[in-house]
Amino acid sequence: MRVLGIETSCDETGVAIYDQHQGLLANQLYSQVKLHADYGGVVPELASRDHVRKTVPLIQAALAEAGLQASDIHGVAYTAGPGLVGALMVGATVGRALAYAWEVPAVAVHHMEGHLLAPMLEANPPAFPFVALLVSGGHTQLIAVTGIGEYRLLGESIDDAAGEAFDKTAKLLGLDYPGGPMLARLAQQGVPGRYKFPRPMTDRPGLAFSFSGLKTFAANTVRAGADDHQTRADVARAFEEAVVETLMIKCRRALDLTGFQRLVMAGGVSANQSLRASMGEMMRQRGGEVFYARPEFCTDNGAMIAYAGMVRLLGGSQASLAVSVRPRWPLEELPALGA
Ligand SMILES: Nc1ncnc2c1ncn2[C@@H]1O[C@H](COP(=O)(O)OP(=O)(O)OP(=O)(O)O)[C@@H](O)[C@H]1O
Ligand SMILES: [Mg+2]
Repeated sequence: MRVLGIETSCDETGVAIYDQHQGLLANQLYSQVKLHADYGGVVPELASRDHVRKTVPLIQAALAEAGLQASDIHGVAYTAGPGLVGALMVGATVGRALAYAWEVPAVAVHHMEGHLLAPMLEANPPAFPFVALLVSGGHTQLIAVTGIGEYRLLGESIDDAAGEAFDKTAKLLGLDYPGGPMLARLAQQGVPGRYKFPRPMTDRPGLAFSFSGLKTFAANTVRAGADDHQTRADVARAFEEAVVETLMIKCRRALDLTGFQRLVMAGGVSANQSLRASMGEMMRQRGGEVFYARPEFCTDNGAMIAYAGMVRLLGGSQASLAVSVRPRWPLEELPALGA
């Protein structure tokens, strides 16, 4: 089976083609980062309009990249949620309509299931069961995963997502949007130990997260005087260390609780090098293993949607003819594969 995947949930237009036997045949991505940069965040209406401009040309580019024609596609997968409603509507409408025209099945993909399965695109994919840490711009969740669609939420952020905290703290430090990767780069020049940020909610049991306090702590530190480059780098370093250690403490607890030996990290923040190194070391010490996707498959992309769509289509899922999207859509509502 060969599936075309379309991702338009936020500010990236992603289109990819995944073949059950040959793997990824095409991957096209257009980022709207420049479009939203002046506003310091994603403007939903501008995002929708840009998806309208880019989705069809990217589908044509993906077919050309793979050397395929429409008749070579056996199914169309599109992100149906969660995300911005107008942005989702673009990919869902195009995807659903193309599948109808091409007389192939369509499948509505959950964006976070896409992220969660992205490490399966790599050479050494994780086996079930595993603990998944979803850390993105909109989510920070720990999930016990025992199979496709068998997701038990163990804990999540009660306020800001980890990526959101990265972006807001980066803004405080005068970095451009989206600040996560830029803050990480600045942190490399920081002196460890100069500032000590709190490790929110680690002093009590449980697997919930809270990151809005870290952003406030960063704001107060910056206000106390962070005009020079070195001080800003030191703040970035302390912030990043606090996020990484907090995530590690909670992952350790989730692994203890479930007894699982595998940890899967997904979502934009899982591209963070310091997080990868720390989790890698922790899992080595535990005799377990950590899995994540290559950096471009951590942030939004069409490949993860094509892959998740193929898995779901093979499991018998099919979207009806109606185009429907779900801006809010709890991951736990997904059915187990074949159920
Ligand atoms: N190297 C990095 N270090 C820290 N944060 C990063 C890094 N790279 C990307 N991010 C963060 O990842 C986030 C984007 O990830 P992603 O595209 O998965 O999120 P999203 O699609 O906006 O949210 P969601 O998937 O929850 O709807 C941003 O907040 C960005 O700052
Ligand atoms: Mg995302």
